[in-house]
Formats: sequence, structure tokens, C-alpha cells
Amino acid sequence: MEKELIENFIKIYGNYPEIISCAPGRINIIGEHTDYTLGYVLPASINKNIYFLASKRKDLRVKIFSIQFKEGDSFKIGEIESFSIKTWKNYVRGIFNLFFERDFSISGVNGLIYGNIPIGAGLSSSAALEVSIINGLNVLFDMELEKIEIACVAQKVEQDFAGVRCGIMDQFISVFGKKSTAIFLDCETLSFEEIPLRLDKYNLSILICNTGIKRDLAETEYNKRREEAENALNIFKNKYGIKSFKDVNSQILENEKFILGDKLYKRARHIINENIRVKRAVNALKNDDFHTLRELIFQSHKSLRDDYEVSCQELDFLYEIGLKFQGCYGARLMGAGFGGSVIILIEENKIEDFKKEVFKDFEKKGFKKPHFYKVCISKGANVKILN
Ligand code: GLA
Repeated sequence: MEKELIENFIKIYGNYPEIISCAPGRINIIGEHTDYTLGYVLPASINKNIYFLASKRKDLRVKIFSIQFKEGDSFKIGEIESFSIKTWKNYVRGIFNLFFERDFSISGVNGLIYGNIPIGAGLSSSAALEVSIINGLNVLFDMELEKIEIACVAQKVEQDFAGVRCGIMDQFISVFGKKSTAIFLDCETLSFEEIPLRLDKYNLSILICNTGIKRDLAETEYNKRREEAENALNIFKNKYGIKSFKDVNSQILENEKFILGDKLYKRARHIINENIRVKRAVNALKNDDFHTLRELIFQSHKSLRDDYEVSCQELDFLYEIGLKFQGCYGARLMGAGFGGSVIILIEENKIEDFKKEVFKDFEKKGFKKPHFYKVCISKGANVKILN
């Protein structure tokens, strides 16, 4: 793969790349819509990546080609404008613009991007793209950014250039991910604990089912949820002086039920319970207690469906199938929701039967044929210097 990418680079630019950077997509075992209110999440990086190869140029021009999109972009540092339509190019432009505005000494580059993370599947291909490029440029120009700074810069690009007021989870896990390990992250302090995933030992696998549903309003709805969550949190902040939903217990929640109103009460209830579920899931994993984990994963979906209202009928249907299927250790919508994917924890030898069942039931319902990916938990972002 690497060799092929290098050859491609040489074919396009006529010179050798100096670095090859690689950043993974992610799954999230549990802890959904908790990051932006500074709560807990439990993601892991997967064996699907975005690669970025680059060499320095003597001028300020940036030339980039995406193998996946079969198109390139060219712009000059200092004169960067973003496109009004949604395109991968805006991420690249956003990164260079941010470095320029922060006075990093960078020149132009020749760059090549390749990725095998399905786009729009809720596996955070955009976070991986950001991290891959930022990490690559960090090495190429000796910027000496710390790992956490790389994640934060990537998050800023997503917020400013893609217009999604996302939390830190996706970018953080792409940088800090580790093989066969989930990361229990406190999004308030950014302290984290590595939680070994002994799935192989129990013949369990992680399966992603992509419904292929993309709701146009997903980004608007995401930002709306964030605003609602912040409004609810402000009520607790003002009265109890707390910073995060982690410190709101069910007694406090019930006390403020009237002031919150029905909608904010439900949003808050999801976040409070989801934070508790993450902590319980961490304990379950430490004890290899996949039965408890199963309960928590299913509960998480229910809460995202009923309290946070970020599901859709295809995602709910997959959850229902998972609930009934022998050998399924949890199924829930993963990522922002409003379409996208479901994460399924399942016994390895039941995967094919599960897929068959889903295809059959989806067809009966007249739903679009979904796609499955079996993923492995793999290492986080890394950069290789090429000689
Ligand atoms: C998206 C965002 C994350 C997080 C999830 C929901 O993936 O990028 O920051 O908020 O949705 O948990």
C-alpha cells in the first residue's frame, strides 16, 4: 500500500514525498453526545485510515490530490478562501489557513491523500483527514506540536471549516488510539485511561452496519442538540456551580424538571445517564463482563432514540434485530446519529447469520440495503519520515 502511494506521488509531482502520515477512523463503544458537555466517552481507533504524503515546496503554493475523489486542489498560503459547497478541500484549506494565521513558519507543499474509511458512515473520516494532515505537517515543518495540540487544532478546523460544533472525541482518539484498547476519556480534564479490549479471547467482534442514510439536516440538528444541552447545563451551572453533567445526579435533575421543561429535561437525562453508563461499561470491560456491557449498549441506543432524539427508523430497526439476535452483545447507533451507522458487538461465528437476517428484514421493510464492515482496534496516528 505504502509503496503504491509513493509511486503515485512521484507520478503526479515528479519528486519523492518526504513524509507519509496515517490517521485512523474510530468506533465509540459508549458515550454518545457526551463529549461537548465535557463528559465521558469510550472510543477506540480502527484499522481504517487516511494517508497523507507530502514534500515541501520552495514557494507558498499548496498542491493536493485526493485519490479517492480523483480531484486536486491548488491554493496559495496567505490567500486562502474556502468553498461555499461542502468538499474535502475545505479541510485542507482550513488547516493551512489556521497555521498561517497562527504564524507557523510553513511553505507550500505537494500532497497526496488516500483513505479507506467509508465517508458518512459515522466512523469519523473527517477527523482522520484533519489529524493525518496536521500530524504530517507537524513533522514536515518541525512544528513541535504536542499530541493534544494536534487533536485540538483538528477539532478547531472541523468547527470553523465544516461548521460542526463537534466535541473532542473523534480527533482525540485518532491521535491517541492504541491497538486492542479503548480510551476512557474525561472530556473536561482530557485525562484518560487505556482499557484493554479482550474481544478475541471471547470470540467477539465489532461489526459496523452502515444504513447509508444521510440526513441533510444532520449538521444543523447536531448543533441544535449541542445548544439544547448547553442551555440545560447552564441551568445547573447557575444554581449549583457545576461545570459538567458528570456532577448532576438524578436528584438534582428531578429538582429542576419544571424549569428545564420537557425537551431540555430529556436531553439532560440522556447525558447524565450516558455518563454513568460509560463508567459502568469501563468496569464491565475491566472484568470481561460482556453481559453487563450488552445491557448498557442497548440502553444507550434507547436513550439516544427517546431522550436525545437523534435516531431514525433504520437505526432503530437494527437495534431491534440486535436485541433479539442470539450472540449479539449490544447494538446502538454510533456517532452523531440522524442516519449513519450502528455498532454491533457480536460473536465472531454469528456474523454471517446476523448479516443475512438484516438483509432479509431490511428488504421486507423496503429499506435501502445496508453495508457491513468488520473492524479491528488498531493503532493511532503516526508519521514516517521517508528517505
Ligand atoms: C460526532 C462528533 C463528536 C461527538 C459525536 C456524538 O461524531 O464529531 O464530537 O459529539 O458526534 O457522540
